[in-house]
Amino acid sequence: MTVPTEVSVRQQAERTADELFSLIKEDLAEVEREFTRHVSSHVQIVAEIGRYLQDGGGKRVRPALLLLASKLWGQPTTAHIIRMAVVVEFIHTATLVHDDIIDGADTRRGRPSVNARWGNQITVLMGDWLYMMAFELALGERNFRILDILTRLTREMTEGELIQLTHIGNVRITRPEYFDIVRRKTAYLFSACTEIGGLLGGASEAEQQRLRNYGLNLGIAFQVIDDILDFTSTDHVLGKPAGNDLREGKVTLPLIYLVEMGDTRTIEMIESVIADGDYCRVTRADLVSILESRGAIERARAEAREYAQRACECLDGLAASPYRDVLYSLARFIVERRN
Ligand code: IPE
Ligand code: IPE
Ligand code: MG
Ligand code: MG
Repeated sequence: MTVPTEVSVRQQAERTADELFSLIKEDLAEVEREFTRHVSSHVQIVAEIGRYLQDGGGKRVRPALLLLASKLWGQPTTAHIIRMAVVVEFIHTATLVHDDIIDGADTRRGRPSVNARWGNQITVLMGDWLYMMAFELALGERNFRILDILTRLTREMTEGELIQLTHIGNVRITRPEYFDIVRRKTAYLFSACTEIGGLLGGASEAEQQRLRNYGLNLGIAFQVIDDILDFTSTDHVLGKPAGNDLREGKVTLPLIYLVEMGDTRTIEMIESVIADGDYCRVTRADLVSILESRGAIERARAEAREYAQRACECLDGLAASPYRDVLYSLARFIVERRN
């Protein structure tokens, strides 16, 4: 037996996502084709970056959520549903390309980030293009309810990134402040995916509410795990720079627990990483070992599990179906994932 390399661990995680989404494999393939069609702009630079972004892959969790939610009432997948699945992946991609500029991240999905390859100026505009393409596609649906969800969501995501910036370097950020950022920058998009899926799939008002809450809780769990992985994983496995959050001055849940414990020496360590903008006087391994020995990583993981559990409880009131089963499994996958 060979010892798995870090890269093979990443590929394995991607395969797990593929297996999980096997029920909607055909629909996801259609989403990819539709994605390609819409980035095939006659503006060469747009087409080039669009293709680059698409080839980079990604787990496609958001379109999968929308598709799965839309299938809970036995409806066939329509062109409208595929289009909305593309819209949410476009919005996600737009946030990623902007986020990498803000975070100064040079890798994404195991390759140079768009900003590393094309520079910040082009990347800002490409992010704007992706947002506008998403809205142009959504407008084509002539559905005010969906537009309402998407515009509010995009505003809230942007506010989330802005609020996060105002907390850069703040070791005293509180748990409510942290969770407010997490909801805005990640969970509302998850929630919009399941809500729009339900809406298009024939859910009643009450069922839409359940789907919205499922997505919200799942999204929170997802971001808490992302923040844990930033400490515990590696660049290779994540396909993006590990350890960047604190370098950039972002204090996330495991560190919030640690700061709450009030140990002056530990708080000074955290502050010195922020001041240096890097792990030099304090190594990442040292900090991670403190986080682990004080149980902060495990506590954050337990918190993510609780949100995933809450997400599952929202599904309990919906009719049983193989698609609902996948939504349950997705909650487990998100908490256990490695990248
Ligand atoms: C990354 O999202 C941004 C976060 C909300 C943490 P994903 O982990 O879904 O990124 P891809 O699309 O799979 O690359
Ligand atoms: C997710 O936060 C931000 C977005 C919603 C784009 P992160 O900054 O933690 O995302 P990654 O870790 O760069 O993917
Ligand atoms: Mg980032
Ligand atoms: Mg992150």
